[in-house]
Amino acid sequence: MNLKKSKKLACTVLALAMVASSGMSVLAATEHWNDASINPQAESGAWANWKTEWETVKTDYQKVAITVGADETKLNFSWYSKTKETPKVRVALSKDMKNAVEFTGTQEETPRYISAEGKSVETAEEGEAYYASKVSTEGVTENTTYYYQYFQNGEWSEAIEFTTQDFDSYKALLFGDPQIGACKGQTSSENDEMADYLAARNDAFNWNITLETALAANPDTNFLMTAGDQVNSSSNEYEYAGFLNPDAMQSYALSTAIGNHDSSNSNYSDHYNNPNSGVATEGMTQAGTDYYYTYGNTLFIILDTNNYNCATHEAVMKQAVEENPDVQWRVVMFHQDIYGSGKDHSDSDGIVLRTQLTPLMDKYNIDVVLQGHDHTYSRTYQLSSTGTEDNSTCYTINGKVASGTVIDPEGTVYLETNSSTGSKFYDLIVNQQDYVAERSQTWTPSYSVLSVDENSFTIATYDVTTGELLSDSSVYTIVKSADKTDLNAAIEEAKKLVKDDYTSESWTAFAGALAAAEAVAADDTAPESEVAQAVADLAKAKAELVLAEETPAPTEKPDATEKPEATEKPDATEKPDATQKPEATTAPNATEKPSENPTTGSNSPLFYGVLAVLSGLGLAGVIYTEKKKSRVR
Ligand SMILES: [Fe+2]
Repeated sequence: MNLKKSKKLACTVLALAMVASSGMSVLAATEHWNDASINPQAESGAWANWKTEWETVKTDYQKVAITVGADETKLNFSWYSKTKETPKVRVALSKDMKNAVEFTGTQEETPRYISAEGKSVETAEEGEAYYASKVSTEGVTENTTYYYQYFQNGEWSEAIEFTTQDFDSYKALLFGDPQIGACKGQTSSENDEMADYLAARNDAFNWNITLETALAANPDTNFLMTAGDQVNSSSNEYEYAGFLNPDAMQSYALSTAIGNHDSSNSNYSDHYNNPNSGVATEGMTQAGTDYYYTYGNTLFIILDTNNYNCATHEAVMKQAVEENPDVQWRVVMFHQDIYGSGKDHSDSDGIVLRTQLTPLMDKYNIDVVLQGHDHTYSRTYQLSSTGTEDNSTCYTINGKVASGTVIDPEGTVYLETNSSTGSKFYDLIVNQQDYVAERSQTWTPSYSVLSVDENSFTIATYDVTTGELLSDSSVYTIVKSADKTDLNAAIEEAKKLVKDDYTSESWTAFAGALAAAEAVAADDTAPESEVAQAVADLAKAKAELVLAEETPAPTEKPDATEKPEATEKPDATEKPDATQKPEATTAPNATEKPSENPTTGSNSPLFYGVLAVLSGLGLAGVIYTEKKKSRVR
């Protein structure tokens, strides 16, 4: 037996022993949860309105979900339809859907049935039939506003706005365990015991506030990610209805992981349209399997860690990496935390996967791993898979940079997300693990921002209730290497930001980093390490900028009768649009009905390319003017 093998065995035995000692028990959630009836961020009357609204929302199982496509130019759609029909999506540059491009997809032959109580059932006698419908589209370009419609029950939906951002420098918002319905069993300030549908009502309200808050603070968001447990009960369609209800969910693409609460039913795979899924399926759950996609310069690989067959995960990682050799960053997301710090899972079920997955992260040079499951926040040091001398662990801690910047680091950093809705929180484990660089349990919802550009990958985590960096968390930036060209490009980008858009305190720090970066750029003798450090410091300072007060207040939501504010860019951060035309020109009539006869059958990227050129000629500017006008309600 060689040394490596014996280490692995030792790790596995240890892991199994620890699981056995924990009895695989599922510990109860804490008493801490986010009671929507007293949510301080809700606008006066919003909760009362929502309770009324919920009575229709909860049985609307036909909400569309936009899933990330195979790359940033593609968007995948899925929805349930009551009618057997060919699913279609059409996309245009104006709300009247003129010159729309139409895409057709596929619908499941066999319907699913949903009972009047929102439960998945087996037969037509028990519930109503719905057909899972999926369409993939392609050809979207960056920094463009589109409108899309989906064909459902024999008619086109209303035209829904979708705006793209920069592709090469992008931002993704990461949410942990929304788990709509997980507050089940709690009692609200109104003395309501959270039974099934009341729990979903509570958590869906808070989910909307989290999305609105996060998007108001990050109007340049490209797409959304959730690290599993979108719902609490995989067969409960009320919870899917609540999760997909926020307007933001119809205007941003989403990438989800399969959580343990999502995994025991096919509802997950029918609600989402994941790209590059099905490469390897051995051991797959009823919900689905691993998938991957690229976005800008990053490869994202999403694993279903309910499946303990790591040969399946490796097969997917191998193919994804081989197909995309030129990406700058590799990110893996899965639900079950293998390096977290929660009391309920981090020293039990996570360890079983840890022994097998950590070497894969090394083998495929994964930079960042995103995790959920433990409803606490933590971030690790950079970790590698080689064991320590006494074989007591299965990882090595590379350096001990707790916060700040790391240049060309060894190994992988693991982020553990707390609950984004507060439907359930867990305690931190008493003895903090040595791999944990920072951790917190604030009993408040939070989300993370991934800001990625050519040379830097930055992670920052925010408290939804304060809008500030989460307590005991810090901004973390990775730079692999950077030369003077990279530094100058980063400086140019930084100079585009406008002082008045940000708080003076955060701007002062940013201006200092910018001046320091310029000094390094001007220094002909600056070594490469110093150049890379300047790029990292500038990226970190950029991520730490705080939007000034003019940003739309999140408390304006949620009112389900209103259109989303947060999906629109606040004025303060709008990019100057050189092509924007005066409003008096040809702004389309916002009340105009979408054309019933769009251009069809032209799914070619070339056609979309023509749309993109039109956009460049000023059409997008016209649309944008119309959008600004319609915001005032
Ligand atoms: Fe969870």
